[in-house]
Amino acid sequence: MSRSTLFRDVVRERHSVRDFLPQPVPEDILRSVLEDAQRAPSNCNTQPWQTHIVSGAKLDALSKAILAADDAGHLTPDFSFDTSDFHGVYRERAKEQGGAYYQAIGVKREDRELRREASRRNLEFFGARHVALLFMPSVGDNVRVAGDIGMYAQTLLLSLTAHGLGGVPQTMLGFYAETIRQELGIDPSSKLLFGISLGYPDRDHPGNQYRINKAPLGESVIFHQ
Ligand SMILES: Cc1cc2nc3c(=O)[nH]c(=O)nc-3n(C[C@H](O)[C@H](O)[C@H](O)COP(=O)(O)O)c2cc1C
Repeated sequence: MSRSTLFRDVVRERHSVRDFLPQPVPEDILRSVLEDAQRAPSNCNTQPWQTHIVSGAKLDALSKAILAADDAGHLTPDFSFDTSDFHGVYRERAKEQGGAYYQAIGVKREDRELRREASRRNLEFFGARHVALLFMPSVGDNVRVAGDIGMYAQTLLLSLTAHGLGGVPQTMLGFYAETIRQELGIDPSSKLLFGISLGYPDRDHPGNQYRINKAPLGESVIFHQ
């Protein structure tokens, strides 16, 4: 198989995994994935990612703390995020994504209680046995650094897929930045952009069986000559 075909397959196989098998990932495999992610490009090679991998009992304690913060309405995001800011086609795509996921797991749009419960699965890392929390230094308006973290995150996600693993990026974890810093003893100067729950996908879970549409090239790319 050619390298481009291999790459194409990995890219197309990757999808957000929202249910995981209970077995942890062996440390050497985790390290191999993180070594791949470390190769990501960044502005001036600054490599601004500060990755915290949380596993085992610490992960359970972290989930408890985040759920408690959520119950108390203690939301402390470092960066704003409001889905009502999405407009036009972006709003439509976001709606399609939410609809497709809830349909896959059998939750009706109007069932607010079940939707809330499903959304809280984010705070249990969807049953994953590891989370990578992507912290960053605050630099200027942070846009360039956030772009670098995006490069890193996708490299990590593709490497997970290539290793037979899966992950889901989660802005939602960023809503509990202060709680997470306190639990892990992280300095307030490190800002939490998002987390990635990761592990062995439960491929039989309905939430892992749907695939969301991607826009055709013409909606995203303009060629100039
Ligand atoms: C930066 C970022 C943050 C995300 N945050 C969440 C999240 O908080 N919860 C969630 O379930 N999915 C989250 N997602 C996953 C997206 O919903 C998903 O990537 C998108 O629907 C496309 O699906 P795919 O990843 O399967 O291609 C996030 C994705 C990205 C890139």
